[in-house]
Amino acid sequence: MAQTPVLSTARLTLRPFRLGDASRFVALAGNLAVARMTSDIPHPLYIWQCRRWLRQARGEVRFAVEHEDQLIGGVGYFCHRTRVGELGFWLGQDYWGHGFATEAARAVVTYGFTAGNLEALTSANFIDNPSSARILTKLGFNANGRMRTFSIARGHEIDCTTWRLEREAAQVIYRLPPESEAAAGGWMRLFARIAGR
Ligand SMILES: CC(C)(COP(=O)(O)OP(=O)(O)OC[C@H]1O[C@@H](n2cnc3c(N)ncnc32)[C@H](O)[C@@H]1OP(=O)(O)O)[C@@H](O)C(=O)NCCC(=O)NCCS
Repeated sequence: MAQTPVLSTARLTLRPFRLGDASRFVALAGNLAVARMTSDIPHPLYIWQCRRWLRQARGEVRFAVEHEDQLIGGVGYFCHRTRVGELGFWLGQDYWGHGFATEAARAVVTYGFTAGNLEALTSANFIDNPSSARILTKLGFNANGRMRTFSIARGHEIDCTTWRLEREAAQVIYRLPPESEAAAGGWMRLFARIAGR
């Protein structure tokens, strides 16, 4: 897996996580309001758990989201062998309500279907998390089912809506170039053009 690059959007920088992010990570994601909407962030959250999580595992494509040089959250996907990625995102509570998650996730979706060479992206939101559903709708995902997923922070299962975005649809929505053009131009240069840099 290629190294996570740095991506820029109008207001945000997306960069690889580093071990030095651990204490800020705990301060942001240690908030129950954040953790309870995810399946995998424990509550309480300890710094040793963050340090372990920050060592990126095979298949993980993770971006730390920075606003005005401060870590505010994370967006990423887990890439399966089938080249289908599972998208996830979270922000510290102080940063909700400004369109940051949509902006950051849009950049990661674009990256995933260009440099990341994904065939599709999936995601899921707990049914009591309508803002996440709204973000996935804005990103072009289609709701395609229901399942029950365990939330570590809550300690029980919750109903989820599942979502999917196919490469063909993403190519139209995000105006991605055909793969032949990308191969000639280099994905990262094309990504920079698509992202408006
Ligand atoms: C979900 C989360 C990432 C949203 O971040 P954000 O930066 O506030 O999101 P955005 O501002 O980009 O978009 C939120 C959208 O949801 C809408 N929204 C907010 N509350 C809503 C509600 N109760 N019902 C319906 N829509 C709602 C907003 O109006 C906005 O849509 P709009 O742009 O059409 O107005 C953030 O709240 C968070 O980190 N929550 C905890 C972790 C989490 O839920 N992660 C996602 C797991 S699937």
